[in-house]
Amino acid sequence: FRTIDDADVTGKRVLVRVDFNLPMKDGKVTDATRIDRALPTIAELADKGARVILLAHFGRPKGKPNPEMSLKPIAPVLSDRLGKPVGFADDCIGPVAAGIIEMLKDGDVVLLENTRFHAGEEANEAEFAESLASLGDIYVNDAFSAAHRAHGSTEGIAHHLPSYAGRTMQAEIEALQAGLEAPEKPVVAIVGGSKVSTKIDVLTNLLDRVDYLVIGGGMANTFLAAKGVDIGKSLCEHDLADTARSVMSRAEEKGCEILLPTDAVVARHLRSGAPTETVPVEETPEDMMILDAGPLSLKAVVARLDLAKTLVWNGPLGAFEVEPFDEATVGAARHAAELTRAGKLVSIAGGGDTVAALNQAGVSDDFSYISTAGGAFLEWMEGKALPGVEVLKE
Ligand code: 3PG
Repeated sequence: FRTIDDADVTGKRVLVRVDFNLPMKDGKVTDATRIDRALPTIAELADKGARVILLAHFGRPKGKPNPEMSLKPIAPVLSDRLGKPVGFADDCIGPVAAGIIEMLKDGDVVLLENTRFHAGEEANEAEFAESLASLGDIYVNDAFSAAHRAHGSTEGIAHHLPSYAGRTMQAEIEALQAGLEAPEKPVVAIVGGSKVSTKIDVLTNLLDRVDYLVIGGGMANTFLAAKGVDIGKSLCEHDLADTARSVMSRAEEKGCEILLPTDAVVARHLRSGAPTETVPVEETPEDMMILDAGPLSLKAVVARLDLAKTLVWNGPLGAFEVEPFDEATVGAARHAAELTRAGKLVSIAGGGDTVAALNQAGVSDDFSYISTAGGAFLEWMEGKALPGVEVLKE
């Protein structure tokens, strides 16, 4: 794929797709990470004298304008962080957008209203993509986290304009290639979170690609139960027992070692300060729940991390939001961070919960790459082609 190194942007109208689908409360941005990830591309283009026109979606307004999902409150936050004025247009196509773009000077930046206010965006209608494309000379996609959507502003538009990957998109693709496509082996994957049902395709794809597969969090209970372990009141998807068994037998055929917890921290309630016990998983009391992996399980994870050259991580090992059930997740995160700092491990993590857990462990700056993508990161882990990335390769 081509990057902005390959584009001559000076004096050009450059349409840049960013992901500003940010956590907001009462009209205020509560976490600006995604804005910060977009800054290098925006600043570089503006410095090179491009007229920067930002396209983004927010929420799921179902193809109709909805004042609660306006991008307007984001413009001043972006302006603040970018250190220059950012204009705003109340529509992303038509005369309103065209009028504002007409007035831009080289180096100016404008944000256009939510692309999803038009039904043509999610339907990826040619007419909508053409209307967007008519506003610019060049298209840059810097929104990896929206690249699993084949929408007008992420896919359709790229058929009508010379198209390039922005800096964050480029970093994300390069990191992900180092993670699973051409990784240094051995590779360890940690897959956690509460449900197996959302991660079946992830597990299946990983069996072909990794040497060690650590399964943690609530989803590990389903695997333990499928093996006949009595897990008391633990969260479990009993209807997925067969799926879990088939994942385990295929792993064996492929020589991929699956690591399930052997001991666990259990409690009667998921709340801070609840009395806990640490027990072998087979001895989970019938009125208690597994809420974290125990110290022996953590030791086994640490030992695999020591053997590995690459780590791909999605999903926590326990109920990390509530202390003390964050110990396994924090312990594994800190060990991976240490190995990464020592140059022994390439560590890649993604997904909302995972990023929150790494922040909690205080190691987010030490990982090789942390993706802000949720759904797109999962689809990548499933081995799926992402339409917004594929179209940049054409
Ligand atoms: C995200 O927040 O994961 C992306 O912006 C995609 O949003 P969507 O799931 O509403 O398409």
